[in-house]
Amino acid sequence: MTSNSPSNSVSEKKTVWITGASSGIGLAMAKKLACQGHCVYISGRNQDTLDQIVIENSPGLSGKLIALACDVTDDKAMAIVLHDAGIESLDSIILSAGTCEYIDLPKLDIEKIRRVSESNYFGVVNSCIAALPLLQKTASNPSMDRPQIIGIGSMSSYVGFPRAEAYGSSKAAMSYFLHSLRCDLNKAIDVTVVYPGFVKTPMTDKNDFSMPFLMEVDEAADIILKKAGKRPLTIAFPSSLNLILHTMQLFPRMWYSNIAARLSRPADASS
Ligand SMILES: NC(=O)c1ccc[n+]([C@@H]2O[C@H](COP(=O)([O-])OP(=O)(O)OC[C@H]3O[C@@H](n4cnc5c(N)ncnc54)[C@H](OP(=O)(O)O)[C@@H]3O)[C@@H](O)[C@H]2O)c1
Repeated sequence: MTSNSPSNSVSEKKTVWITGASSGIGLAMAKKLACQGHCVYISGRNQDTLDQIVIENSPGLSGKLIALACDVTDDKAMAIVLHDAGIESLDSIILSAGTCEYIDLPKLDIEKIRRVSESNYFGVVNSCIAALPLLQKTASNPSMDRPQIIGIGSMSSYVGFPRAEAYGSSKAAMSYFLHSLRCDLNKAIDVTVVYPGFVKTPMTDKNDFSMPFLMEVDEAADIILKKAGKRPLTIAFPSSLNLILHTMQLFPRMWYSNIAARLSRPADASS
């Protein structure tokens, strides 16, 4: 992440909090930012996993990785986690914590939908509630760069995908929440919503279907960090999949009657 106004910045070394940093895209970004000299608080649910990441990656770093275990679905614990860690201010937060579970009809599994929504939507809400006072503190200091919230959404929220009733709707909700929050932050804090396509991580390693334009995690992390420095409203990659899905938004009947219909799995009549 680079500065948006380097001329008035006191320090190029930023304090960043990344949720979902024990694995995948969040971890890849955390390592890159710490290599660049930033102080990076990394969160996931398991303290031992985070401690191990810090031990393995700290030698030779010009910045710092600090383990901060939390469950983003726990609103009460989230409200105090940053305060208890003694963090005084934040330059940016990257909200990458998330989970994916697919729906298989005929069971429209409410527990699954709630679980995914708790992590991907309420987890983002809880993280913003926790971090806003610390971002606002940075925003109120005229010698500091404007702080930034970066939320990792998904291209699955562009159109309805089969089996994505839980995942896609949670990503659509978090995306809307962040765009709406941007309006109310009134330019004091930048908000960037990221829409990745398929990225090779433990999350997608579980998928048993073909993933077009699958990207390596390091490449995805590089794209997000490079583009986020310019403070865009959104970042979407890979551009080929982005173009195809945006076109499908313009021709929804083609998507739902032909393509999505072919991607869907027939309901198992026996269950
Ligand atoms: N990979 C893709 O193709 C893709 C595409 C579009 C969007 N995304 C989004 O990108 C983000 C990162 O995904 P990824 O592919 O890097 O998956 P991943 O490797 O499975 O990482 C998910 C991260 O979220 C954390 N997490 C999950 N539930 C949590 C909770 N309740 N509290 C705190 N942390 C929690 C996990 O940590 P612990 O398990 O250690 O708690 C882990 O660090 C997700 O929001 C995902 O939806 C991914």
